[in-house]
Amino acid sequence: MSITNQNAKIGLAIIGCGDIGQARAQFARSYSGIGWIGVCDINRELAQSVATQIEADFVTSDASELLSRSEVTAAIIATNETAHYAPVSLAIEHKLSLFIEKPLAVDFRQSAELSDKILKYGIDAVMGYTQRFRHRFLVVKEKLDNNQIGQVSSVSARGLLNRTIANMVLSRANDHTNLTPMVASGTHMLDMCLWLMQGSKPKAIFARSTDKIFGSTGSKDTTIAVLEFDNDAVLSINHSWVAPENWPGGVYGMQIGIIGTQGVIDIEDMHRDVILASSQHQPAGYKRPSASIENKAASHQQSRNVDFLTSIPFGQKSQGEMWGPIREETFSWFQRLQTGVPTPHTTAQEGHANLALCMAIDLAAKTGKILEIPDDINELANQFT
Ligand SMILES: NC(=O)c1ccc[n+]([C@@H]2O[C@H](COP(=O)([O-])OP(=O)(O)OC[C@H]3O[C@@H](n4cnc5c(N)ncnc54)[C@H](O)[C@@H]3O)[C@@H](O)[C@H]2O)c1
Repeated sequence: MSITNQNAKIGLAIIGCGDIGQARAQFARSYSGIGWIGVCDINRELAQSVATQIEADFVTSDASELLSRSEVTAAIIATNETAHYAPVSLAIEHKLSLFIEKPLAVDFRQSAELSDKILKYGIDAVMGYTQRFRHRFLVVKEKLDNNQIGQVSSVSARGLLNRTIANMVLSRANDHTNLTPMVASGTHMLDMCLWLMQGSKPKAIFARSTDKIFGSTGSKDTTIAVLEFDNDAVLSINHSWVAPENWPGGVYGMQIGIIGTQGVIDIEDMHRDVILASSQHQPAGYKRPSASIENKAASHQQSRNVDFLTSIPFGQKSQGEMWGPIREETFSWFQRLQTGVPTPHTTAQEGHANLALCMAIDLAAKTGKILEIPDDINELANQFT
């Protein structure tokens, strides 16, 4: 990547002013390399309040109005999961550099189309896989890149989410066809495993899912899969988003064990190391859903009095500011835009490959058969829902 003109200021459009868009907007305001900021949300009042808060240069409820402004050179797409396709398509038309929250699109063909167009137009587009910016995983990545445990032969990964998150994700969409635990949240753990496994290519999948809690919504509860790779490495992945609301982990906990020919790396990331216990109820996650849509017969109203304090993976507010990997991830992207330095971000093509593999895992679980992965995983498109 070449070093670009570092004096050129970034003109930034932020589409979607929910929790994540707001956090990134606040970082943008404090980055001196950004000369102009426009914000947009279909909720006009919300857009206006964020614009006021960060002293934005432009505010609108119409993404196309903002993305076609001549000042805009880059865009953050932080709309909810099912509303990425339209603003990303528009931003591609305007050849903007992009930061897109995952997934690229929940519809596989739309995701493939966006990934292809981004490649064709030579657009620098990265995605919000914030876990890559956590110190622990960057250190592990460095050790693996430097061959400190030899060749990786197997990886075992377990992810567990508080079900408040599943209720939130599912309650803000009408169509849950592809909003499975793998597509909506397991993608973070899968991205991490593939990143650490350094280019191993999956060739077959065995998987099973359960659906006692969220089956009635069209989604799933837990998915367990075993993936075989072309270099004979094996990955077992077990992802669940149905821990009860009183589970002390606020959002996402992981355990990843990596076995190499000359060593082992074992990552305990369930966040059990900073624990609060209180007689007061502790809200789970970073926000509550507007409505809980799980099967109530299987759930109970629970008080949550123990909290793993650092279990919101992207970060949390303290002293009026957001701290955590979302900060490193966002500032690192601003530096990438301004100087052209390489960064650990997930590219749009990797993001699309993550979606394809999550959908392939869901397909293998649905058919109950071992799924052979073709050289070009996009050939499975007709089998994805
Ligand atoms: N990087 C991370 O660690 C991380 C963490 C949580 C969520 N996310 C992702 O970030 C995205 C946003 O999540 P959130 O929790 O902020 O959601 P949110 O629901 O709080 O915010 C989304 C906002 O987008 C707005 N919106 C929807 N369609 C729009 C459109 N066409 N034009 C303009 N605005 C539109 C909504 O009105 C809403 O205000 C999701 O894709 C989510 O998966 C990423």
